[in-house]
Amino acid sequence: MNILIIGSGGREHTLAWKIAQSAKCDKLYVIPGNPGISEIAECVSGISVNDNNKIIDFAKLNNISLVVIGPEAPLVNGLVDDLKAAGIKAFGPTKAAAQIEGSKIFAKNLMKKYNIPTAKYEIFDNADKAREYIKSEGAPIVIKADGLAAGKGVIVAMNLDEALSAIDEIMEQKSFGEAGSKIVNEDFMDGEEASLLAFTDGKTIVPMIPSQDHKRVNDGDEGLNTGGMGAYAPAPVMNKDIVKLAEDKILKPVIKAMANENCTYQGCLYAGLMIVNGEPKVVEFNARFGDPETQVVLPLLNSDLVDIMLACIDGTLDLQKVEWSDECAVCIVLASGGYPKSYGKGYEIDGLSKSKSLGNLIFHAGTKNVDGKIVTDGGRVLGVVAKAGDIKSAVDKAYKGVEVIHFDNMHFRRDIAYRALKFNK
Ligand code: GLY
Repeated sequence: MNILIIGSGGREHTLAWKIAQSAKCDKLYVIPGNPGISEIAECVSGISVNDNNKIIDFAKLNNISLVVIGPEAPLVNGLVDDLKAAGIKAFGPTKAAAQIEGSKIFAKNLMKKYNIPTAKYEIFDNADKAREYIKSEGAPIVIKADGLAAGKGVIVAMNLDEALSAIDEIMEQKSFGEAGSKIVNEDFMDGEEASLLAFTDGKTIVPMIPSQDHKRVNDGDEGLNTGGMGAYAPAPVMNKDIVKLAEDKILKPVIKAMANENCTYQGCLYAGLMIVNGEPKVVEFNARFGDPETQVVLPLLNSDLVDIMLACIDGTLDLQKVEWSDECAVCIVLASGGYPKSYGKGYEIDGLSKSKSLGNLIFHAGTKNVDGKIVTDGGRVLGVVAKAGDIKSAVDKAYKGVEVIHFDNMHFRRDIAYRALKFNK
C-alpha cells in the first residue's frame, strides 16, 4: 500500500524509517519531510500540514491507503476527521479526541471526573484572580496555557516572581495568542518524570517501552526548557509494577473515559508521568508520539508498525502482536547553540556518514539540503541514536557517534541517560 506521513522532524524521520521496513509499505510519501527522510521516502513540498483539502487531494491522486500524522497541530485541526470522511484511513485521534492535548482544561477536567491521578489545579480566565491564587498557594507552582503553544505553554515556576511573570506573559502580553486566554494553575509534583506512549484502538490500550526525555537545555537538568535534548528507553524508574499501575489507573481509565465522553481515542496516546513515591501521576497527555522519545522507542519495536497502526484504526488491537526487543536505546539531540532562544542557521553538517558507519541511526530534525550539502535549519538539528544490550553501552556508542559529527555552534548534553546509569550502579 501507499502510505503518507505528515510532518518534518526527528519523530517523523523515525516513523518513516520504521514504516519503510514494513512488508505492507509499497511507496512512502512525507509532507513535507526533511533531507534525512528523503533518503527513504519521497518528500513533497508545497503543501502545508494544516491544509486538509490539499492533503486529501494529494492522497487521492497518489492512491494513499494510510496517512500517519506526526505533529499535534494537524490533529487538533481535524485532519483525521477530514481524511476519514474522504474514505482514507488515518492513524491519529480525531479533532474531538485530540483535545486531550489541545486543551489542558479539557484534560484536567476529564482526569478529575474519572479519578485519574494528577496534580490538584484551578482554572482561570482572569489574570488578577490567577495572581491572587498563586500568591495564596505559593511556589513552586505550574502554570499551563490552555491551548497549543508549540511546546512552550507550560511554565514550572520555582518562585513567586517566575509564576507572576508567567501570568503576565501568557495572559497580559498574550505570548501564545488565544491559547493563553485561559490557564491552569497546578500543584508542583516532586518526583521523576517518564514518558509512557501507548497504542490504542479506543478499546484496547498497549503501552510501549517506557522512556525518559531530558527537557532542559544543559547538563544536570539546568537552563531553559526545550522540546527535548535526548531520551533513552527503557526507563528503569518505570519498572514492571509502575507500568502496570499506569496501565490500570491511567491508560485504561482514560481510554474508557474518552469513549464515554463521545470522543473515542485512537492512535498513539502519550502519557507524560511523574513518579511520586512509587505512584505514577499524569503531568500531561499528548495526542501523538513524543519527540525525542519516538527516536528511542520505535527502534526497539520488533513488530510491524503498519500492522499495529491498521489494527488501531480497525479496532482489532486486541488481536495484534506488539513485540519489543530487550535492548536499550539512547538518543542524543544535536542542537543549534542558542536554542531554545535565537540561533544561527545554514551551517554545514559534517560526519553524518561516519556516524552511521559506527552503527548509529541518524534522524534529521532541523536540516536542509542546499546544493547537495546538508546544513542546519532549526533548533533541534539531529538525533543520534544507538542501540545496545545495556544502557551504558548504548550511551557510549551514541556519544562515539556524536563525536564525529560537526557543525558550527553545535550544542548537546553530555549526560543523557544519567538517571538510568545511576540506577544501574
Ligand atoms: N518530548 C516531549 C514531547 O514530545 O512532548
